[in-house]
Amino acid sequence: MLSRYFKPALLEKIAAGAGTPVYVYSRELFLRQISSYKKAFKGLDPLFCYAMKANSSRGLCGLAAAAGWGADVVSGGELYRALRAGFKPGKVIFSGVGKTPEELEYALRQGILFVNAESMEEVLELERAAARLKLRAPLSLRINPDVDPHTHKYITTGKLGSKFGVSFAEAEKIYMYAAESRHLDPVGAQFHIGSQVRSAGPYALAAGRLAAFMLRLASRGVNLSYADVGGGWGVKEGGEMPDPAALARAVGGVFGGTGLKLVLEPGRSVAAPSGILLTRTIYRKRGGTKNYVVVDAGMNDLVRPALYGAKHPVALVGNCRGPRKTFDLVGPVCESGDFLAEGVKLCEPAPGQLVAVYSAGAYGFSMSSQYNSRPRAAEALITGPSSWKLIRRRETYKDLTAAEL
Ligand SMILES: Cc1ncc(COP(=O)(O)O)c(C=O)c1O
Repeated sequence: MLSRYFKPALLEKIAAGAGTPVYVYSRELFLRQISSYKKAFKGLDPLFCYAMKANSSRGLCGLAAAAGWGADVVSGGELYRALRAGFKPGKVIFSGVGKTPEELEYALRQGILFVNAESMEEVLELERAAARLKLRAPLSLRINPDVDPHTHKYITTGKLGSKFGVSFAEAEKIYMYAAESRHLDPVGAQFHIGSQVRSAGPYALAAGRLAAFMLRLASRGVNLSYADVGGGWGVKEGGEMPDPAALARAVGGVFGGTGLKLVLEPGRSVAAPSGILLTRTIYRKRGGTKNYVVVDAGMNDLVRPALYGAKHPVALVGNCRGPRKTFDLVGPVCESGDFLAEGVKLCEPAPGQLVAVYSAGAYGFSMSSQYNSRPRAAEALITGPSSWKLIRRRETYKDLTAAEL
C-alpha cells in the first residue's frame, strides 16, 4: 500500500544519484500523517510536539515545524537540532530520565515551554539551574500511571517498575515543594506509556488517572495548565498510520472542556510509514538449509529487527527474473544478529538489484551507528512525483575519524 509513494523509477534514480544504502522519505506521506493528527484532534486544539528521537533529520523536522508543530526533545543535542530545524523554543518540551545540569541550563536559556522532570533530584537540579539564571523554570512531571500498554518490553514505559517517571504519591510531594519554590513554576503533568501502542484503551485509563490526580492537586492549590499524554500511537510495519481519531476520543473524553491545554508527543506514527531504507543486493549464498541475500545495508543502518525483533516488509525494486525463494535478507556486519528481514518469500534478487525495506522512517536513521566503521547512510526526500533531493549526504571514511585526536 505504501509502495505507491515510492515508485520504482524514482527509487532507481535516487539510488543512482545518492548511492546505497540510502533512507528515502516521502514528503507527501509525512505531511499526510501530520494532517491526520490535526484533523482527528480538531476540536481539542492540542499542542503537537513531534518526538525528535524518531527521526531528527532537519529535512523532515523542518516540515513539522512549518506545520506549526512543536518538538519533544530528550537531550541537549536534540534541542540544538530542533531549534536549527525551525521549531519555536516556546513549543519545545524536554523529556528524558537523565538530563544533566548543563542540558537543563541550556534548555532554560532557550526559553522552552517546559521540562518534563522524572525525579526529585532532577527537580532540585532544575531549581539550581533556574536560580543561577535568575528565572523560574517551567516544570512538568513525568508520572508513571502504572498502565500496561501491551507492547514490546523494551518500549513499555508506563508500568511501575520501569525506570521512567515518578509515582502519583511522589509527584504530589514534588508539586507541593515546587509550588513553594521561587525558582520553579509547576505548569504541567505528563505520562508516556510506551511505544507501538495499538489501542486507545491504555491512554483512556492513564488519562483518567492523571486527570483525577490533577483535580486533587488543584484542591491543594496547585493548578496546572498542561496535560501531556506523551506519544506512542502504534503503526503496523508496512501499513499506514491508523486513524488517530480513537486516540483523540480517548484523551479528549477526559481532558476536553477542562480548560487544560492538551499536549501530544507523536514520533513513530508520523515518521515510520514515511520512510524506506533502500539497499542494493551484493551477493547470494547458501548456509546450511538457508538461503541468504546479502545487501549493502546492515544492522548499523537499521537496528530494529535485531533489537526488537521488528518485522519490516521488504520488496524488490523493479522486475525480478530469479526464482521465488525463501531467504534471509542480511547485511555485511560481522554479527549473526545482522539481518534486516528473516524468512522473506520473494523472487530472489540478482546482485545489483535494489531492495526496499518499508516502515523505516522512524528509529531507523536516528538509531544508526558507524559500527564496523561503516559510514552512515545518506538520506533523501521525495518532493514530487518524479523529484527528490538529498537531505543528508553519505558519510565518508574521513567522517569516521573526524573526532579522533
Ligand atoms: C517521552 C517520550 N515521548 C514520546 C515518544 C515517542 O514515542 P513514539 O515514537 O512511539 O510516538 C517517546 C518514545 O520513546 C518518549 O520516550
